Amino acid sequence: MNRERRFWNRMAKRYFNSPIEDEAAYEHKLEKTRQYFTPDSEVLEFGCGTGGTAVRHAPHVKHYLATDISEEMLRFGEERAREAGAGNITFKRTDFADLEADPESFDAVLGLSILHLLEDRDEGIAKACSLLKPGGVFVSSTVCVADGLWFLIPIIPIARLVGLFPLLRVFSANALRKSMHEAGFEIVYDWKPSRRSALFLICRKPG
Ligand SMILES: C[S@@+](CC[C@H](N)C(=O)[O-])C[C@H]1O[C@@H](n2cnc3c(N)ncnc32)[C@H](O)[C@@H]1O
Repeated sequence: MNRERRFWNRMAKRYFNSPIEDEAAYEHKLEKTRQYFTPDSEVLEFGCGTGGTAVRHAPHVKHYLATDISEEMLRFGEERAREAGAGNITFKRTDFADLEADPESFDAVLGLSILHLLEDRDEGIAKACSLLKPGGVFVSSTVCVADGLWFLIPIIPIARLVGLFPLLRVFSANALRKSMHEAGFEIVYDWKPSRRSALFLICRKPG
C-alpha cells in the first residue's frame, strides 16, 4: 500500500468528524458548481474524501462517481450516502492517475482540495480535461501554499518525513491558472476571497 493511501486512511475518522472551516465559502462553491449541473449530468469527483460534497450534489445530477485513494475515507462516504438515501453515487477506490474511464464521458469533473496533493498537477489536470465532454467543466479548489502559506515551506519536508503531512506541492495561484490555460481550459469562474484561501476555479473545456 502506498504512503499517501496509508496517510489518508489514518486521517479518515478525524476528517469525517471535523467541521467545515468556512461554511459560507463552502455553500458558495456548491451553489456555483450546481449552476453547471442538469438532471442528466454525469459527474466525476476525484479525491472525494468522506463524500460530504458528493451527497450534497448527487440529488441534482443523474450519476455521481466518487473516487478516492483511501478505502477508509470511502467507508465513511458510503455510510453517509446510505444515510442520505443517495442511491446515484458510486464509490470507487483508486489513485486518480490510475482511474480507468472512457474519454469525454463526464459533464463535470470535480477535484476539491486535491490538486496540491498530486504528484504531478499538470498530469491530473490533463486527465480531468480528457475525461470531460466538450463544453464540460472542471471544478477545483486548491491550496496555493506559495501565496499566503509560504511559512509552511520549510516545515513541509520534515512534517512529511514524520507522517504529519501528506505529499504537499508548493505552487502559486497564478501557476495553477497557467496550468489550466496550458491544458486547454477556459477559466469561467475564479474566486480566491483572501490571500490564504483556496483558489476556486471553474474551467470549461472548449466545445
Ligand atoms: C484534503 S482531502 C479532500 C477531501 C474532499 N475532496 C474535501 O474537499 O473534503 C484529500 C483527499 O484526496 C485523497 N487523495 C490523495 N491523493 C489522491 C490521489 N492521488 N488520487 C485520489 N485521491 C487522492 C485523500 O485520500 C483525501 O481523501
